[in-house]
Amino acid sequence: MAERGVVHEPVLLEETIAALAPRPGGRYVDGTVGLGGHAARLLAESAPDGRLLGLDRDADALAIAGERLAPYGDRVTLIRDSYEQALPRALAAGLAPCDGFLLDLGASSLQFDTAARGFSFRLDGPLDMRFDRGAGETAADVVNGSGEADLADLIWRLGEEPASRRIARAIVHERPITTTGQLARLVERVAGRPGQRISPATRTFQALRIAVNRELEALSAALECTPELLRGGGRLAVITFHSLEDRIVKRFIQRESRDCICPPGLPECRCGHQKTLRPLGRHPITPGLAERERNPRSRSAKLRAAERL
Ligand SMILES: C[S@@+](CC[C@H](N)C(=O)[O-])C[C@H]1O[C@@H](n2cnc3c(N)ncnc32)[C@H](O)[C@@H]1O
Repeated sequence: MAERGVVHEPVLLEETIAALAPRPGGRYVDGTVGLGGHAARLLAESAPDGRLLGLDRDADALAIAGERLAPYGDRVTLIRDSYEQALPRALAAGLAPCDGFLLDLGASSLQFDTAARGFSFRLDGPLDMRFDRGAGETAADVVNGSGEADLADLIWRLGEEPASRRIARAIVHERPITTTGQLARLVERVAGRPGQRISPATRTFQALRIAVNRELEALSAALECTPELLRGGGRLAVITFHSLEDRIVKRFIQRESRDCICPPGLPECRCGHQKTLRPLGRHPITPGLAERERNPRSRSAKLRAAERL
């Protein structure tokens, strides 16, 4: 069960609210409602009659968001589902096209800080890492059921880990691996370097979490539905925490900000693509020093936003 009273400080809160520019009567979709921090502000700023659809794959997070957002009554609809389903869910709830779509990616403090969820290499727990504990393979299934080459490829591609082959070989040698502590110690042994600032397990854990939850596929699918989900003038805001996610968001906004997306060198346009978005700002927004010091988890955050044309 969820730990009550857990605190998750919403990352880049003011900047996200500025990007989404909520207004009374507006309709918002928070695809990663988590513990409801961003959602609460969107509801407050869109009072008295703004509405919000909050999605999350994690039942524990939704239970906490439900309590936190209860004061907003029927202005809020919470559904346990992936943000890939944002468009059909918003249509069904009568909230599409909407004025704002928010994705605050990755795991929440609740998930990182609950040993039983298996996200953290600092806390010993079962090697799980699923956002939705009711579905799909766990990280232990991936680690114990994949061939060495596939594991090395996964840790390299999704963790950008230079020692991926050595780690994969050690995993295969030591299997079965069932706990976060066992995996963290193994990675430390084979890939740790003296004086390293971040834990050597960071990249391997990131790779497994992304794979287990199909995070990059889900993000791409959700972005593709954005032009249909937003009304003209509606805003998209995405907070990412690593370069793989940020690249996907950056490229999507770049592509949707151009009329023609034909490969370079064609004498005339054959794609017929028409731009759907206007980027808000040339560069991603990152947390200031005060936020980074207050909330170390915000350090790698980047916010990109765009407006539906
Ligand atoms: C960083 S937290 C969001 C925190 C939230 N903005 C707040 O202020 O409390 C990310 C959340 O996204 C959820 N999540 C991850 N992948 C998801 C997906 N494909 N669909 C829906 N929710 C997802 C996680 O379960 C987690 O609760």
